[in-house]
Amino acid sequence: MRQPKKVLVLYYSQTEKTKDVIDYIIDPLRDKDDISIEEVLIEPVNPFPFPWPKVYFFSIFPECVYEVPVEIKEPVFKENKYDLIVIGGQVWFLSLSIPLVSFFMHKKSKIINNTKVITILNCRKMWIHTQKRMEEFISLAGGTLVDKVLITAQGEQMQTLTATKDNLFKSNGDCDKKWEVSPTALKQLKQQGKDLLDALQSNKLSEEGVFTTKSTAFNNTDFDHPEMVARKKFLQIGGVIKRLSKSKSYFRYFLTIIFLFFFFIMVFIGLPLWPLVKRLKDKKKSGTAV
Ligand SMILES: Cc1cc2nc3c(=O)[nH]c(=O)nc-3n(C[C@H](O)[C@H](O)[C@H](O)COP(=O)(O)O)c2cc1C
Repeated sequence: MRQPKKVLVLYYSQTEKTKDVIDYIIDPLRDKDDISIEEVLIEPVNPFPFPWPKVYFFSIFPECVYEVPVEIKEPVFKENKYDLIVIGGQVWFLSLSIPLVSFFMHKKSKIINNTKVITILNCRKMWIHTQKRMEEFISLAGGTLVDKVLITAQGEQMQTLTATKDNLFKSNGDCDKKWEVSPTALKQLKQQGKDLLDALQSNKLSEEGVFTTKSTAFNNTDFDHPEMVARKKFLQIGGVIKRLSKSKSYFRYFLTIIFLFFFFIMVFIGLPLWPLVKRLKDKKKSGTAV
């Protein structure tokens, strides 16, 4: 009898949103005799709090943008080698979330070496840097990216910002904890799950791609400019805060409150205005081109 195809699913998920997305992709593979699935959660030794205390939440942004790892529980894998590794994570302060960074910097990330990988990224809107970093980490570990999934929050800026805020700061009883995946994205995820099953069963996992359609969210690069500007600011301000204060210290909280003043102007005034500014800029550009 032929060996089943071995799939390892590695992920972090605090409010189960990323896990839900992973499940849509993985569900068609479950209970198949010719496929074995192993799911491993990346677990920080000291779990991040949920709901997040507000100032503490913002105080960790320097560690996020500078990719400072935390100690994670050593992941245990049943196999030495897999046919496919699916890695699921999220964006924290426009950067790859700390638990994912911590895994990629852990010695057990060697499991990726010489293995095909699919990434699943879940976030509100700005994903370009994080997707790139995830791919760089995979390449550094010797893995080969065969395809990628991206899910972003449905809705307008303010709507998704409020949903994210409620999602992270309200206790479980006060909020639904999940943001909506659009019906189109949902349909696409289910199709991608079927495509993956087909690719595994017919030995068609290759760098050419696995999914018949790319995640629609990849088409939206409207926010690449604000993301670049915001990351630059995060790196500048985060660098100073990180140099001057230790995480969880009173001085860090004090500096965080000062930073928040500028952060809220950027997020709640600058970002919602950006689509309008972009439209005006594009209009002006096409006007001058004529
Ligand atoms: C510390 C922290 C920072 C975050 N920063 C961002 C961000 O910069 N951009 C974004 O789209 N979402 C951000 N989020 C929201 C996460 O992307 C969201 O919580 C995640 O998608 C939820 O996935 P999970 O339930 O699988 O943990 C942040 C969340 C946390 C906890």
